[in-house]
Amino acid sequence: MPTLTMHRLNGLPEAQFRDILSGIFERSPWVADAVEPHRPFADLQALHRAMVAAVATAPRAAQLALLRAHPDLAGKEAQDGTLTASSTGEQKSAGLDRLTREQMQTIARNNQAYKTRFGFPFIIRVRNHTRDGIFAAFQRRLDNEADAEFETALREVYEIARLRLETLLA
Ligand code: GUN
Repeated sequence: MPTLTMHRLNGLPEAQFRDILSGIFERSPWVADAVEPHRPFADLQALHRAMVAAVATAPRAAQLALLRAHPDLAGKEAQDGTLTASSTGEQKSAGLDRLTREQMQTIARNNQAYKTRFGFPFIIRVRNHTRDGIFAAFQRRLDNEADAEFETALREVYEIARLRLETLLA
């Protein structure tokens, strides 16, 4: 496939533009739909800013649904092979597909505790962390206040989206 540039992206038919960006925010194509009318974008940063603004100004229920659209780290979907391609790559990059039995048990316990406490899965830009760093952040963030953690999770989602855009656009 020819390299995708911002120039090409700006010039694509509407449906194709939406389709290509549909997974930048996990299983949430509405973010791409929201920014499509705002083309053209000067560069990746401008596109990212617009997508972040669409999420940041969305109703809280839509933000929560976006957080909930994320799979557990090293969870059932990872084991069943039903993750999105982006998520598979991200989880692999931090070695989350190669956990010991004990690490699997720890992360499963943490995933459950986190979801019970906050109502959405633990999300972290795994590409910027080592496996140990992820486990440490997990433990730390379990103690956060609910509102602060909601904001932290959204910020992580914004950074994951930036990394996905960088992967997509040369
Ligand atoms: N951080 C980066 N990718 C993912 C993902 O697929 N799921 C969760 N929970 N966090 C992530």
